[in-house]
Amino acid sequence: MNTPHINTNGNKIAESILLPGDPLRAKFIADNFLTDVVQFNSVRNMLGFTGKYKAKEVSVMGTGMGMPSIGIYSYELISKFGVKNLIRIGSCGALQENLKLYDIVIGQGASTNSNFAHQYNLPGTFAPLASYELLSKSVSTANNLGIDVHVGNILSTDIFYNDNKEAELSWKKMGILGVEMEAAALYMNAARLGANALCILTVSDNLITHEETTAEERQTAFVNMMKISLEML
Ligand code: HPA
Repeated sequence: MNTPHINTNGNKIAESILLPGDPLRAKFIADNFLTDVVQFNSVRNMLGFTGKYKAKEVSVMGTGMGMPSIGIYSYELISKFGVKNLIRIGSCGALQENLKLYDIVIGQGASTNSNFAHQYNLPGTFAPLASYELLSKSVSTANNLGIDVHVGNILSTDIFYNDNKEAELSWKKMGILGVEMEAAALYMNAARLGANALCILTVSDNLITHEETTAEERQTAFVNMMKISLEML
């Protein structure tokens, strides 16, 4: 099965997939955590791999940045390749003072400024939610691993460099934990197509306190997220 953006050449994609934004991070996960690895995609260098984690088959693939990009990949993965469980692992800008760099945020809901939901012609607004099953599993797995997590609403924004500097900050008063750019489209595709989705994030910067991490530091912090998502499946 091939699609415009995923050409597997007959290689398998597992029922459960980890979705980092960066395709090289997908390679990092395959290289460091999986055995019996087969690369299933290289279209646009959006590397995808299937392998085993403790005898369980799992795939990992990049999604690119933003809702249009993850919207394309998650749609094809669910509707054409039968993927059932999709876990995005990414970074977010924290919107609350109590969130420290490298803290883990799990998106119970994904508010958004995107018009992705307009396609569904709903007579109101839609609340994009994580799969409760994946959400509860991720929290109990994190507890078992001794990793603290913050669970709540996140913001999926279309704009990284916003001309209006206050735009993201105005979501703080609604208790939004952090800003990222993909979860809402992933949650909507999963809802529409009958799959389970979850978004786990590491705080890479704080928009209130202006703390920032370096690329190398982020790599290490990502390992905790990878452990939670691989162990919970
Ligand atoms: N905005 C959007 N996405 C992000 C940010 C941010 O500040 N930090 C990490 N991902």
